[in-house]
Amino acid sequence: MVKIAVILGSTKPGRNGKAVAEWIYKLAENRADAKFELVDIADYNLPLYDEPYPAMMQKYTKEHTKKWSQKIDEFDGYIFVTPEYNHSIPGALKNAIDFLNVEWKNKAVGFVSYGSVGGARAVNHLRQITGGLQMADIRAQVMLNLFTDFVNMSEFNPDPRHNDEVSELFNQLISWSEAMKTMRE
Ligand SMILES: Cc1cc2nc3c(=O)[nH]c(=O)nc-3n(C[C@H](O)[C@H](O)[C@H](O)COP(=O)(O)O)c2cc1C
Repeated sequence: MVKIAVILGSTKPGRNGKAVAEWIYKLAENRADAKFELVDIADYNLPLYDEPYPAMMQKYTKEHTKKWSQKIDEFDGYIFVTPEYNHSIPGALKNAIDFLNVEWKNKAVGFVSYGSVGGARAVNHLRQITGGLQMADIRAQVMLNLFTDFVNMSEFNPDPRHNDEVSELFNQLISWSEAMKTMRE
């Protein structure tokens, strides 16, 4: 069975992302066709990129990089849960992605975003970034609106229609994760 990480991409105190990532993870528990794990980038205490070599060389010198690499390497696919910051993704998420390369490569990826326009612009950037890492991005996307899926822009209360979108995201991501796993082997 493929293993998929739900990656919580915000590190900000009081982040909305925690409730969103936990909601995705809870829905994922209904799936019998993949294993899911919630990965919070805040738990890895990554500083601003401080490795002397480009990540693709995998010549890691720091303990935090080795620990992050080991975790991300475990998975066949990823769901990035991201807010939109200045029409893109948070710097903390970009930094966490930059720390690695081979660990992401030839694996499937899907996106859950939130913001005033559902985080759409953040995911457009993220698709470019993950494309550069040779990841296979699925089409299905869950976009949560700060005005309609949150009370006072802070209490997560998703419209029920998003449940079907999450199911479709899982369907596409699991099948592509399986396909990419076969390809890597
Ligand atoms: C630095 C910063 C920049 C932001 N820029 C945008 C933006 O460009 N577009 C948008 O829709 N929301 C923007 N927001 C609002 C965030 O999408 C909103 O606060 C979201 O809940 C943040 O998620 P988090 O609490 O999980 O970090 C911004 C928030 C911050 C902190």
